[in-house]
Amino acid sequence: MESNPTAAVINFNSIARRYDLINSVMSLDFVGSWHRRFIKNLKTSVELAAVSRALDVACGTGLSTECLARLLSTQTAKSARIQALDISELMIERARKRNLQNLDNIKVQFSLQDAFSIKCKDSSQDLVCISFGLRNLRDPARALGEFYRVLKNNGHLVILEFSEPYRGSSAIRKTLHEAHYVTASKPIRW
Ligand SMILES: C[S@@+](CC[C@H](N)C(=O)[O-])C[C@H]1O[C@@H](n2cnc3c(N)ncnc32)[C@H](O)[C@@H]1O
Repeated sequence: MESNPTAAVINFNSIARRYDLINSVMSLDFVGSWHRRFIKNLKTSVELAAVSRALDVACGTGLSTECLARLLSTQTAKSARIQALDISELMIERARKRNLQNLDNIKVQFSLQDAFSIKCKDSSQDLVCISFGLRNLRDPARALGEFYRVLKNNGHLVILEFSEPYRGSSAIRKTLHEAHYVTASKPIRW
């Protein structure tokens, strides 16, 4: 277990009910397109037909899990299992409300778990995904070690995360990034 996971739990429990709305407002409604692009990249870089066990770590309200489940259901004929985990029980409660039982070949299970002690055997997963979650983990390097432990040989780790504007970005892009960071991130305090 993480040494002090309480702060993350309190923070994310307190915004779980409004998380999707906050996410949409803070991202100027780009969040859907980021997830779509992530899925498109996943499709071209991972042989999804071979995936039978996948993890969505720090799944939040399950938007990332839903995107992954719908993609996998179209790419694999065999059955696959996605375990989606998060440390906030209210996030998991909301994620469970997504109607993902109707995907014939994909079984999705949401569970309350810590990214630092995933309840999976060593070398058991074909794919580990984490979307906008790595920066929220206290010790990202240790979490990466845990992902490595559960991944099979030749398994894939796929990370969707924010970054600073790259060197050479236009002044407008940098200004928008700064403005958004200052005005949108501060009150949320995550
Ligand atoms: C910004 S949200 C991302 C949610 C989702 N993946 C998405 O793309 O919308 C970050 C999530 O990380 C979770 N989290 C923070 N620390 C964690 C930990 N140690 N183990 C598992 N989840 C954690 C939070 O509860 C929160 O739901």
